[in-house]
Amino acid sequence: MYASFASIGAYVPSEIRDNQWFCDRMDTTDEWIIKRTGISERRIAAKDENTSDLGEKAGQIAVKRAGLKNEDIDLVICATISPDYMCMPSTACLIAQKLGLKDTMALDISAACTGFIYALSVAKAFIESGMKKNVLIIGAEKLSNIVDYTDRTTCMLFGDGAGAAVITGTENKDEAILDIQCSADGNLKDLLLTPAVHEAEASFMQMKGNETFKIAVRTLTSDVQKIMAKNDYKNEDIDLFVPHQANYRIIKAVGDALAFEDEQKVLTVHKYGNTSSASIPMAINECFEDGRLKDGSTMLLDAFGGGLTWGSAIVKFNSKS
Ligand code: ACO
Repeated sequence: MYASFASIGAYVPSEIRDNQWFCDRMDTTDEWIIKRTGISERRIAAKDENTSDLGEKAGQIAVKRAGLKNEDIDLVICATISPDYMCMPSTACLIAQKLGLKDTMALDISAACTGFIYALSVAKAFIESGMKKNVLIIGAEKLSNIVDYTDRTTCMLFGDGAGAAVITGTENKDEAILDIQCSADGNLKDLLLTPAVHEAEASFMQMKGNETFKIAVRTLTSDVQKIMAKNDYKNEDIDLFVPHQANYRIIKAVGDALAFEDEQKVLTVHKYGNTSSASIPMAINECFEDGRLKDGSTMLLDAFGGGLTWGSAIVKFNSKS
C-alpha cells in the first residue's frame, strides 16, 4: 500500500488587511512592504474565529473533494503554531470534534512553516504501515494572535488561513507520494521564536529577519537539489513548484537558483502574506481551483520555518473529485 494525495481544500477569513492598515499605525510605507516582501494584503480572522474553525472549514472541503464522509477519516493531524489553546486540548482534537468525529485519533504538529510537510510525512507513514486508511492533514493558523503589531519588522508579513488535504492508500505505485524529506536544527532556535513559556506571559513572535532570510534561501535551494537528485528527477518532471510563501524575494531567489520556469512556480504571498503551516496547502488549493493542478500533476513542495525546520516533498496529485 502506498500513500496518495487525494484532495485539497482551503479556507481564508473574509477580512482583508491591506498595507495601508500598517502605514496608518507605524513608520512604514506600501512601497517598502511590497519591495521587501511582495505582500499587498493578508486575511485576518474575526475575534470569535479560532484556528480550529479555519481548519475545520478547510478540512470539510478536502474530505468532500476526496469523495469521503467525515466518518471515513481515521486520523486528523493539524500543523499549527497558533493553536486555540496553548497546551491542551490540541487543535486537531477540536477540529475532529467540529467534524463530528468522536473516537478518532487526532494530534497536532509543531513545525512552524514546515508543518504541512511534516504532517504529510506522518500521514504517509500511518497509511503505508497499514495503521490508518484516510488521514486528514491540515495546516491552520491564526497568526494574528501571536504577531506583535508594534514590531514593524515582522507584523506586516503574516496572515491567517487554513489548508487541508486527504491522504489515502493506493496500490498503484504511479499514484504514490514519491518522497518526503523533513529536517530540524534546534541550534538555530533563536532566529524565530515566541519567547514566553507560560500562558500568562505575552507570547509574540520574534524574528531575526535578515539572518533568517539568508538561511532560508540557502536551505530551501539545497533541500530541493537533494530530493531531486535522490529521486533522479529533472525540472521538466515537475508540473508545479510550491514553495512556502514567506516573502516574494525568497521565492524568487530560490526559483531562480533552481531554474524553474515562471509557469511552474506558484505564488500567492502577495494576497495572503505568510500563513506558516497553511501556506503550502492554500497555494495548492489555489492551483486546483484555477485549473493549474490536474489529476496526475506532479508537485514539488518546499518549506522552511521556526525551529529551525525545513522539508521538501515530491507528490503526485490523484484527484478524487
Ligand atoms: N517599514 C520600513 N522600514 C523598515 C520596516 C518597515 N516595515 N521594517 C524594517 N525596516 C527598516 C529596518 O529598520 C532597516 O533600516 P536600517 O537600514 O536603517 O537599519 C531596513 O528597513 C532594512 O531592514 P532589514 O531587516 O535588513 O530588511 P530586509 O530586507 O531583511 O527585510 C524582512 C525584512 C522582510 C523581514 C526579511 O528579512 C524577511 O522576509 N525575512 C525572512 C522571513 C522568513 O522567511 N521567515 C521564515 C518563515 S516564518 C515562520 O517560520 C513563522
